[in-house]
Amino acid sequence: MLCKKLHHAAYRCRDAAETVKFYTEVLGLKFSHAMGEDHVPSTGKYSPHVHIFFEMEDGSSIAFFECPQDPGEPSGRDPGTPDWVQHFAFEVESVEVLLQAKADLEAKGLKVIGPTNHDDFIESIYFFDPSGHRLELTARTCHDPVRLKSFEDEAPQVLALWEKTHDWSQRHLLFGSRSGYQRDQAANKEVSA
Ligand SMILES: [Fe+2]
Repeated sequence: MLCKKLHHAAYRCRDAAETVKFYTEVLGLKFSHAMGEDHVPSTGKYSPHVHIFFEMEDGSSIAFFECPQDPGEPSGRDPGTPDWVQHFAFEVESVEVLLQAKADLEAKGLKVIGPTNHDDFIESIYFFDPSGHRLELTARTCHDPVRLKSFEDEAPQVLALWEKTHDWSQRHLLFGSRSGYQRDQAANKEVSA
């Protein structure tokens, strides 16, 4: 593959110092790099900024820019887009670790949603950073390679049904019922036919 792994995803932050405190003290990431310019290196545009990186165990990072002279919201979100759409998910080791993290985050005063089961694929909790970015901690709950391959094989069918209806009024054709994710293999074939 051309793309080997995540290097970093970058967002805007409200305040760099506050962001360093949150990502190192609340989430325990490594503050691995800070750099800054008055002009954006790629475009040359004047925009004094600091660019900060927080590294995870696998060497990948989440990064932020504080750019105080630019207009707009630090969350970078279009106000019409629901706040659950744009988010960044960190993988944790297990559901046990996830549940402990929820308790730890709540003890630090954060409001945490979840745990939420997503299709017996992952289980997640959600909260916001100081700039308003939605963060997710997630644990893989499906470790069976056959099941994982079936998710992969099914994905084009899920997309095809979505393209047809743009809602889930016919979700039973794929997922076996009007809610939940219990597959009905016979119904599944009907969609692919
Ligand atoms: Fe997610």
